[in-house]
Amino acid sequence: MQSLLQPATESRASSALKALRLSESRYRRLFETAQDGILLLNADTAQIEDVNPYLIDMLGYSHAEFLGKKLWEVGAFADIAESKGMFAELQAKGYVRYEYLPLKTRAGALIEVEFVSNTYDCEGIKVIQCNIRDITVRKRAEQELTESKAHLHQLTIFLQRAREDDRAHFARELHDELGQNLTALRIDFNGLADCLATTDPAISSRLAAIDQMINTTVDATRQICDELRPGMLDDFGFEVAITSYARNFTHQFGVPCDLLLDSEDYGLDRLLSTAIFRIVQESLTNIARHAHASHAMVALQDRGDELLLTIADDGCGMSADLTEDRKTYGMLGMRERVDMIGGRIAIDSAPGRGTHIEVSIPKSVQPIP
Ligand SMILES: Nc1ncnc2c1ncn2[C@@H]1O[C@H](COP(=O)(O)OP(=O)(O)O)[C@@H](O)[C@H]1O
Ligand SMILES: [Mg+2]
Repeated sequence: MQSLLQPATESRASSALKALRLSESRYRRLFETAQDGILLLNADTAQIEDVNPYLIDMLGYSHAEFLGKKLWEVGAFADIAESKGMFAELQAKGYVRYEYLPLKTRAGALIEVEFVSNTYDCEGIKVIQCNIRDITVRKRAEQELTESKAHLHQLTIFLQRAREDDRAHFARELHDELGQNLTALRIDFNGLADCLATTDPAISSRLAAIDQMINTTVDATRQICDELRPGMLDDFGFEVAITSYARNFTHQFGVPCDLLLDSEDYGLDRLLSTAIFRIVQESLTNIARHAHASHAMVALQDRGDELLLTIADDGCGMSADLTEDRKTYGMLGMRERVDMIGGRIAIDSAPGRGTHIEVSIPKSVQPIP
């Protein structure tokens, strides 16, 4: 009987051994070819049980320099002031993740790693598996991106300011030079027309046409000046300027525009008043050009720490790709202005549902150098 059973038991044992060897060889291959550093620690003694070639390459210590050492006895980790505290944390928690851990290689270079540890039970021995990924390059790229964004932001602010200054300068020149010349021309012309006091209908109609032309040119000049830099913004303040702009909008485009201001004086400085005015100007121009709306609304509400600006219309609306598309310059400029004053913008629109733009603006904008 026994002689019959023996080979079966042996073959079961040998196939179990084979499976074990296969599993061990698979594990080894994974461990040795992993593109992350892996460190296995005994959770009770803090001794390093194994370390993979990738980590050896990353930190520059030999296999022997790791093996059997306590975590904080290896130079790379000894530099972390709280490495013993860190080990206690690994021991106490089943899962630990440090996003940016600075480690020093054997050659003295400082690298940043992402460190993730998991604790598991292996045949009664508690093992802490630490996965270590070098993210120095990624972090540098992130830093460079953040810096470059900050530079671009500063540049945008500078360009916007320069543009506003230029526009104000041109508006003044236009008003002072052309405007005054036109006024003088009109006075002279009226004087000349009076002197002529002609009854010839042909001459009278030409004089009337010239008079009309002078008036149209005066109006056009005033309008261009206002587009460039609304004089009212500087002379009478934001509230008067925006009221006048909304009234002119209704008059010019035949679209009633309700203006709701919950304060008579928002106390806005030049930066904020210009930014809010320009955002309203761009939004209303878009309504006139694209919305086919029968009604528009502009509201500014004082919410204590911030201002809430709403511009809405009941027109044709637009699709999501337009509200999110950053390549159309009107919207892009609007977003940049909002960004420049540290605000947030939300555009809610859909075909057939009109457009609702909400901008929240912190009152305390950091002074820009
Ligand atoms: N209030 C609105 N109603 C409907 N469509 C709008 C509105 N505002 C903007 N749009 C759409 O979004 C597009 C992008 O606007 P914008 O960036 O200001 O560029 P532009 O006015 O020069 O076309 C417009 O061409 C138009 O199709
Ligand atoms: Mg536009």
